[in-house]
Amino acid sequence: MPDAVAFPQDRTCPYHPPTAYGPLREGRPLSRVTLFDGRSVWAVTGHAEARALLADGRLSTNRENDAFPATSRRLKGIRFRRTALLGVDDPEHNAQRRMLIPSFTLKRTAALRPAIRQIVDRLLDAMEAAGPGAELVGAFALPLPSMVICDLLGVPYEDHEFFEEQSRRLLRGPELADVEKAREALDAYLEGLIGRKRSAPGDGLLDELIATRLETGETDVPELVALALILLVAGHETTANMISLGAFTLLRHPERLAELRADPKLMPEVVEELMRFLSIADGLLRVAARDIEIAGVTIRKDEGVVFPTSVINRDEAVFEEPDALDWNRPNRHHLAFGFGIHQCLGQNLARAEMEIALGALFERFPGLRPAVDPDRIPFKPGDTLQGMLELPVTW
Ligand code: HEM
Repeated sequence: MPDAVAFPQDRTCPYHPPTAYGPLREGRPLSRVTLFDGRSVWAVTGHAEARALLADGRLSTNRENDAFPATSRRLKGIRFRRTALLGVDDPEHNAQRRMLIPSFTLKRTAALRPAIRQIVDRLLDAMEAAGPGAELVGAFALPLPSMVICDLLGVPYEDHEFFEEQSRRLLRGPELADVEKAREALDAYLEGLIGRKRSAPGDGLLDELIATRLETGETDVPELVALALILLVAGHETTANMISLGAFTLLRHPERLAELRADPKLMPEVVEELMRFLSIADGLLRVAARDIEIAGVTIRKDEGVVFPTSVINRDEAVFEEPDALDWNRPNRHHLAFGFGIHQCLGQNLARAEMEIALGALFERFPGLRPAVDPDRIPFKPGDTLQGMLELPVTW
C-alpha cells in the first residue's frame, strides 16, 4: 500500500484529478489518505469497490457522529447541524426521500424543459446585447440553475443574491464563522418563507409539501426547512459548476467541440461524458457503522471513508483510456452523481439543464472563446465542489 496521500488537494488543471492523487490511482482499489487534521481514513478508488460500498448500509452519512470524516476545519465545525437527506441514514432517509421523489422523476423533469429553454434564451439574449464579452459564471452558469430551482421550489428569485451568497459561504467559508452564519441566515430565511406560504400559498414544490406533508403532520417545520435548504443549495451550486467547467473543458478540446457542433444530437452523451470526466463532487464522505471486509482489507467500525470520484471515474478496468474526453464510449455507469440510496435526487433535472444550456450557448456564439489566457483563469480549491471561479469569454 502506498504512503498516505493528503486529502483533499487542489487540482492542477480544473478538469483533471489533482496530480498529487497519482499514488491513489496506483493503489487501487483502496488506499489510506490523511485528512487536514492528521486523521488517517480509507480512500476508495476502484470503481467496483466504490459501487459496492456506496450501496452498503453499513456505511453511514450521519455527520453528527464524531467519527464522521471532515475534509476541512470549517466542515468539522458544523457537524452538530443536521443535514436532511445527505446527512441521515435509513429509515429516516427513506421517509424524507419518498416525499420528494414524485417531483424529480424523468417525466416531471421533461415537462420543465420548455421553461428551462426560455430562461436560457433570456440569459443568452442579455449576454448578446451587452457583448461581445461576458463573465460566463455570473451571466449564465449560475443564474440559470438558480432561477430553475427557485421556480421549482416556489422561492422568489428576487432573493437570489442573498441565497447565492449564503450558499457560497456555506460551501466555501472561508472561516467556520462564515459557514455557521450562512446556515443560520438560510434557516431563518426559509422558515420565514414557509410561514408566509402557509397563509398565502403559491404553486411551487414547497407549497405542495406544506399542503400535503406539513399540514398533515407527516413532517414538521425544522425538517421542511432542512429539505428546502439542501434542494436550494444542491440545486444551483452543482449545476452551475458543471455548466461553467463543462463549457471551459469543451473550449479546451476544439476537435471534440467541432464534432459536437456538427451533430448537436450528441448532447446527452456529451453531458454524461463531461459528468464522468469532470467529477465535480470529488470526495463523497462516509463513516463505517460496522466492520466491513472488502478487497482483502477490513474497514473498521468508526473509520472514515472517502470516495474521490475523479479517481474512481478514471478506473481503467471500466473506462478505456480514461484520461481522454470521449463521448463515443459507454459511460453511463460513472459515479459522478453518487450511487446507492443517496444517489443524486436532482440528476434528471441537472441533465436537462446542462443539455439545454451547453447546446444553446455554443449554438448562439459559434465563435465563443476564453477572453484571457485560459491557464490564468481561476478555479475552485480542492476542499469544495470543483468548478470555475470565473470564466471570461468573448465571441
Ligand atoms: C450536475 C449537477 C449535480 C451534481 C454533479 C450532483 C452530485 C450529487 C452527488 C455526487 C450526490 C451524492 C452525494 C453522496 O452520496 O455523498 C448528490 C446528492 C443529492 N443531490 Fe445532486 N448533483 C447535481 C445536481 C443536483 C440538483 C439540480 C439537485 C436538486 C434539484 C440535486 C439534489 C441532490 C440531493 C437532494 C441529494 C441528496 C440525495 C440523498 O441523500 O438522498 N442535485 N448530488
